Amino acid sequence: MSAVESAVKKIAVLTSGGDSQGMNAAVRAVVRSGLYYGLEVCGIQRGYQGLLNEDIFPMDLRSVGDIIQRGGTILQSARCKEFMTLEGQQKGADILRKHGIDGLIVIGGDGSYQGANKLSKQGINTMGLPGTIDNDISFTDYTIGFDTSVGVVVDAINKLRDTMSSHERVSIVEVMGRHCGDIALHAGLASGAESILVPEVPFDLKEIADRMHHNFACGKRHSIIIVAEGAGRGEDVAEQLHLQYPNLEPRVTVLGHIQRGGTPTPRDRNLASLLGDFAVRKLIEGESDKACGVIKGELVLTDIDKVVNSKKEFDHATYELALRLSQ
Ligand code: ADP
Ligand code: F6P
Ligand code: MG
Repeated sequence: MSAVESAVKKIAVLTSGGDSQGMNAAVRAVVRSGLYYGLEVCGIQRGYQGLLNEDIFPMDLRSVGDIIQRGGTILQSARCKEFMTLEGQQKGADILRKHGIDGLIVIGGDGSYQGANKLSKQGINTMGLPGTIDNDISFTDYTIGFDTSVGVVVDAINKLRDTMSSHERVSIVEVMGRHCGDIALHAGLASGAESILVPEVPFDLKEIADRMHHNFACGKRHSIIIVAEGAGRGEDVAEQLHLQYPNLEPRVTVLGHIQRGGTPTPRDRNLASLLGDFAVRKLIEGESDKACGVIKGELVLTDIDKVVNSKKEFDHATYELALRLSQ
């Protein structure tokens, strides 16, 4: 495919919202695929804020060298209040037109997707790539950064197990996931956690305290409770357990932003590479206002409107399995 028959001639890419591991691999794929297909490609620094500040610069093959293995985002990220307003969105579209940019690829979460949707209403061709550790985007099985983040949590739990076993303690691990328990669920399954508290499933702390107590009575040497931040605070869970059973003295670890850093896993890099190239090809074919995703191994395109207006389904069967296997 050449630029001559392409619906877009000059595209830009930005990263927005909370960063995630693999965003760099996605930027690299967008830039190199865009150039391969004969487009001009620009980078925009600091998300929508950088767009409004006209922080726009040309990118070439070398500008994305040596980044596939790096966490964070070389384009940096930002949250931008001005872009939430119609005036901000009109200004952003005008700036893109002024630079001759007719296609924009936005790598970010649901908020960033909404920004892209608003820009397309201002006449800009847009594509969204799911860049967030939370895995909270519908119409894709996985988001870029999720796999790395789960790996960080599992690695931390492996270490916690060592010391918790020595002292026969309960370890409470608070993980990210504002509205989505996927990090907690997948890390819980992979690490054998006895309890996984997520916003999607109601829980009873008395019942959990009883289970922890029973575990020790049955000879377990440690227990792990994972708490997704959207389900509550680890410290509050610890307090409740201690109130129920004063001999339980849980220790709380809040993993925080460690989960958003580190070298992306091969799975995240490859997802980013596939989706980055897909987004460019779809823009060239004349698609716009769409989100790119992967479902059962197939690359899929979905209206951004539809994606941001539907809540990702929680995998209850896997949740039950994780609890069953950790008995
Ligand atoms: P994420 O993309 O990770 O969900 P945010 O929700 O913080 O992160 O959104 C990132 C940025 O996207 C916001 O700071 C804002 O500039 C833009 N944005 C979010 N929601 C909207 C909206 N409804 N309309 C326009 N822009 C939005
Ligand atoms: O959306 C990704 C995420 O990492 C959430 O899990 C978390 O609640 C939030 O971002 C933290 O964002 P920040 O500290 O960057 O404001
Ligand atoms: Mg969000």
